[in-house]
Amino acid sequence: MLSLPARCLLRPPRRPLPAPFRWGSSGPGRRWLLSTPIFYVNGPPHIGHLYSALLADALHRHRGLLGPGPGRLATGTDEHGLKIQQAAAAAGTSPSELCAHVSGLFRDLFSRAAVSFTDFIRTTEPRHHRAVQCFWAALQGRGLLYKDFYEGWYCTPDECFLTQGQITERPDAQGRPCKVSLESGHQVHWTKEENYMFKLSEFQEPLRKWLQGNRHVISPEPFYQVVLRWLEEDLPDLSVSRERSRLQWGIPVPGDSTQTIYVWVDALVNYLTVAGYPDAHHAWWPAAHHVVGKDILKFHAIYWPALLMAVGLDPPEQIYVHSHWTVHGQKMSKSLGNVVDPVACFKQYTVDGFRYFLLRQGVPERDCDYYEEKVIKLVNSELADALGGLLNRCTAPSINPSGIYPHFSESCFRKSSDHMDVEASGRALAEDYELVASVDRLPLQVTDYFEHFQIYKALESVVACVRQTNGFFQRHTPWKLCRDNPAEKCWLNTVLHVTLECLRIYGILLQPVIPATADKLLSRLGIKLEERAFTDLTFLPRYHGKPCPFEGRRLGPDTGALFPRLETPRRRQLEIKGLRP
Ligand code: ME8
Ligand code: MG
Repeated sequence: MLSLPARCLLRPPRRPLPAPFRWGSSGPGRRWLLSTPIFYVNGPPHIGHLYSALLADALHRHRGLLGPGPGRLATGTDEHGLKIQQAAAAAGTSPSELCAHVSGLFRDLFSRAAVSFTDFIRTTEPRHHRAVQCFWAALQGRGLLYKDFYEGWYCTPDECFLTQGQITERPDAQGRPCKVSLESGHQVHWTKEENYMFKLSEFQEPLRKWLQGNRHVISPEPFYQVVLRWLEEDLPDLSVSRERSRLQWGIPVPGDSTQTIYVWVDALVNYLTVAGYPDAHHAWWPAAHHVVGKDILKFHAIYWPALLMAVGLDPPEQIYVHSHWTVHGQKMSKSLGNVVDPVACFKQYTVDGFRYFLLRQGVPERDCDYYEEKVIKLVNSELADALGGLLNRCTAPSINPSGIYPHFSESCFRKSSDHMDVEASGRALAEDYELVASVDRLPLQVTDYFEHFQIYKALESVVACVRQTNGFFQRHTPWKLCRDNPAEKCWLNTVLHVTLECLRIYGILLQPVIPATADKLLSRLGIKLEERAFTDLTFLPRYHGKPCPFEGRRLGPDTGALFPRLETPRRRQLEIKGLRP
């Protein structure tokens, strides 16, 4: 008996395909003020800082593609505090010079990384000075500050006060016992001074209620649970100023020249400053969505909401928390000399290559490890080979000599409900219908993942579809079809049309993550700038009985590779082979 390949025996699926993609209630309209943390200027930016900014950027761009609803993305630098004062002194420069220089490095990095920020705030700006002093006056006006002697541990690298239970003893470099923060390992010092205290303890119940009534306000969920647990413990009042004699580099307490406002109060208020506080924030507050690292969760999920409640403002709408990048399994640190410079990464992997790596491999719930081979392997396999290869194959002049978006034929690829067997379905196979179903579903899936702060999963589902499309192309071996035979030509064009339609959808969906590569891809397909929004995500309209505006259109002129294959540098190849230490 003649044996047929298994797929030929498969019948097309009988269940109807899902309805084509449409935007529903999750669409645009509401305001959105996204933020990254503002970064300390005691050292240059590294890949961890970049990761926070990229997460926020991808969310911001994704939202922008949903429609014209107003959205802003704020980032910037946190420039006051003891840590900066000491870093400047150690570098033999003035704090303001250090701030201007390092703030510039962050700004340049984010511009180079295509982070689409709409505001870059420096806490040394006059608008912020004014916002912080107004905020302070509001706290004081509501009777929520009092002066007292603060006595306890202060950790300058972390700029925070710690309780006895939050510290431990470890030998320092010289082997002498030294008190350090349990969480960060940084050294702490005993401080005893008169400070202003904020009545944080009064907000324990309101904070609990707020969290219980907003179960999704902190995501991913495990971090929400962490905050709830913190709120089960004692919540002591918080020291919110330092003696001016010790800390000059900061905003003075209004009406008390002996005190400087605590750097974390100063820093948190940046989110209000960018919203226009104290005059114009009502249009934007509380539409705040903060992206933060897990190291500063307590400041954002406890201190900040309490401070906002204290001045009669609502807590932020959303706090997105992410974990940390390690390098070859180790925490990045200056003393270990393993801090990874993002600009060097851009040179090595390209901007989009590195953006893709961080967002595809970064899982907010857990720490992720960076090493060179991992980036090269991932980017080559997914961007250069799977995506770039697919584009190259279906636009090659040998297969599409006319260089146009080819025509789809309904008789070759029938609508699934119209047929019951292989004959009647034209030349499409069951897997081809599965591909159509997957790509039809993809936009909603991707949006859902973005809305749940799971950008890595959104990318995973795009890649799965790219692979499925490569399978489709391979299965039908269009390079073997003869253009001179009208029936074959019709099917060849249909195969190319479906593949280009898939690529068009991937290009639109990938814009938030790899904007330059997505632009190149869409331009190659001849898709105009105004045809790249999420409302243009209707996949394969001809299959659904609708006209396709791209059919017959000339493809874009750029025939170069979509994404260059990355090489492992020779130095590393030798190291891997053990030929170099
Ligand atoms: O804490 N992996 O600033 P900061 C991933 N100025 N992300 C990392 C990271 C790593 N290894 N290291 C740092 C401050 N980050 C305050 C914030 S906000 C009102 C004030 C990211 O320069 C992560 O987002 O220490 C972390 O929360 C932030 O950088 C801390 O930056
Ligand atoms: Mg830090």
